[in-house]
Amino acid sequence: MAGLNLRNIVKRFGKTEVIHGVSLDIDEGEFVVFVGPSGCGKSTLLRIIAGLEEVTEGEIWIGGENVNGVEPAKRGVAMVFQTYALYPHTPYLKRRPKELSGGQRQRVAIGRAIVREPEVFLFDEPLSNLDAELRVQMRIEISKLHSSLQTTMVYVTHDQVEAMTLAEKIVLINEGKIEQIGRPMDLYQSPANLFVAGFIGSPKMNFLKVKVVGAKQGSVTIESPDFFDGPVAIPTVRPSVLELGSELTLGVRPEHLRIVPKPEANGLLTIEVVESLGDSTLVHGLTSGNNRLSITLRGFNDLRHTDSVGFCFASKDAHLFDAAGIAV
Ligand SMILES: Nc1ncnc2c1ncn2[C@@H]1O[C@H](COP(=O)(O)OP(=O)(O)OP(=O)(O)O)[C@@H](O)[C@H]1O
Ligand SMILES: [Mg+2]
Repeated sequence: MAGLNLRNIVKRFGKTEVIHGVSLDIDEGEFVVFVGPSGCGKSTLLRIIAGLEEVTEGEIWIGGENVNGVEPAKRGVAMVFQTYALYPHTPYLKRRPKELSGGQRQRVAIGRAIVREPEVFLFDEPLSNLDAELRVQMRIEISKLHSSLQTTMVYVTHDQVEAMTLAEKIVLINEGKIEQIGRPMDLYQSPANLFVAGFIGSPKMNFLKVKVVGAKQGSVTIESPDFFDGPVAIPTVRPSVLELGSELTLGVRPEHLRIVPKPEANGLLTIEVVESLGDSTLVHGLTSGNNRLSITLRGFNDLRHTDSVGFCFASKDAHLFDAAGIAV
């Protein structure tokens, strides 16, 4: 078991820089998930840790040792890939690889990684070829594996649900840079910027353009064509930098919006689509300011297309972002 440190990692393929100076500390025994959109550099970073890819600049430390220049087999890491090619002679249930299901193959791949007793496990989207049900099952197996082995694990996925459920620490990557590092609930409750806010959570956080009409220590008052009941005060950490009249983006998650009688509402929503999922209902519509808004309601709700309803949110559930997209 070993910790892992990346110091100012830069990676260029020819003239194209794809990793722009990534620094990161992973504790011994920690389960860390690299998550981000396709092409952001997750696999490249993982392959750099494994030694399968050389760094252009920066240092990689595993268990307190600098491993730049150390060959992959001597780094004490074991890697499990998305598509796993079994060696034909591997004895597993006396079956040949092509006779194994995707789930069985990944179990074999993980098994082979375990017997090497690595200091660090590296997983690159190991479940993305599996169907939804098997993915959930394997996710639970990997969680249990980490609890029993207590080995450092770095897991790459583009699936934010996998990241939220597996990680002790999420590293959210976008275009070769780290957007935020934190516990899953830190990223959910306090996204550092618009990108993180939009990436974590499903359905995606709603965003509305708003204007600052008042700011004092601890809160900022905002106004929007979507609010029919006047300005709304939102608690914030740094309102002093906000000028009156400046434009902000208000973010509210669908699960934090409620449908209420019009006198209690912040604004009105004209419903366009209602999706009933059984345990919840997703309502999508247009605000009076012509902005799209989605609301997640628990259980079944008998709402219809073209219904006009009042929506409201608690100010504690509101997120504000400045013109540069940074959380206010
Ligand atoms: N060998 C290579 N030569 C040139 N460019 C590469 C090479 N490998 C990766 N890249 C580029 O580096 C960037 C990051 O790729 P990477 O595979 O790390 O992304 P990723 O986050 O793992 O994406 P995905 O979720 O699709 O697997 C991409 O723009 C990719 O095209
Ligand atoms: Mg990848």
